[in-house]
Amino acid sequence: MEIRDDVRHGYEKKLRKEPTCVFSDEIKIYSKMKVLVATEKPFAKVAVDGIREVVEKNGYQLALLEKYTDVNELYAAVADADALIVRSDKVTKEVIDHAKNLKIVVRAGAGYDNLDLEACTARGIVAMNTPGQNSNAVAELVMGMLVYAVRNFYNGKSGSELMGKKLGILAFGNVGRNVARIAKGFGMDVYAYDAFLTAEQINQSGMAKAVANQQALFEQCDIVSLHIPATAETKLSINHDLVGKMPKGGILVNSARKEVIDEAGLLKLMAERTDLKYITDIMPDADADFKAFEGRYFATPKKMGAQTEEANINAGIAAAEQIADFFKTGNKKFQVNK
Ligand code: 3PG
Repeated sequence: MEIRDDVRHGYEKKLRKEPTCVFSDEIKIYSKMKVLVATEKPFAKVAVDGIREVVEKNGYQLALLEKYTDVNELYAAVADADALIVRSDKVTKEVIDHAKNLKIVVRAGAGYDNLDLEACTARGIVAMNTPGQNSNAVAELVMGMLVYAVRNFYNGKSGSELMGKKLGILAFGNVGRNVARIAKGFGMDVYAYDAFLTAEQINQSGMAKAVANQQALFEQCDIVSLHIPATAETKLSINHDLVGKMPKGGILVNSARKEVIDEAGLLKLMAERTDLKYITDIMPDADADFKAFEGRYFATPKKMGAQTEEANINAGIAAAEQIADFFKTGNKKFQVNK
């Protein structure tokens, strides 16, 4: 749950200064390894350049599949890949079946619900994520969306301020902690709940006050920001009754996953409670229905939280380095299918 101290802001400058490595005999052993970056939503070019540099200096070959629209393109691209870097791209059993040489897949980001871990494990493929690498970007977007929401989507009408409002953070991991850090700068009163942390651990962070449970967070806070992963336990857990506990004028902000929301329940609640707002970076399946709540609903057209050059560089290069380290030393520190 710690924020990694090796975030690579400014890495591109460092890359330009580093001399090209001369391949050693040891590295030549791996020279036929192919690392595929498959991103339906591409990284910034500077991040791809950084990934390429890491891949090539280790003697591997980089293949790039960007903005693909047909899964068959992915099937073809993975056919001879030894390693795969993805973002929210779905790595299904079918993808794994087409990837006969695949040894490692790294989700360049935090949430790995897009990886079929069982299929990876069955084939002996190591699956990893890059925790913490894009969390500041997501947290900044959350705060930006909140300002947009309390200022009535910049429609000219008088809005309200974040200072002094109670912000509840649901799941106090890397993104949640960054949101807390920035929210304190806004003068917000920050609370948090995390099913995997004790109240003492949250309080000791000095960034948020722990509440007893999830329900208390919704009851006590003007704004609740979701940072839970999509798991069997969390799917549909943000429902009519829970969000209905929020005080008058409550705002729910989602930069996590759409699957955690019970959309039918939230739609029903927003019809009943005309004071509530729902702001999300993940367009709901029922986007058209939510749009009926004009002035109380906003969804980004494409998930934008991690879409910054810095986050792309941090997560993309971390993924490439983790692959190189795995091939060379067997390091599986960030493995998620143990
Ligand atoms: C994550 O889990 O890291 C974020 O949701 C970012 O996802 P993205 O790489 O698809 O933008």
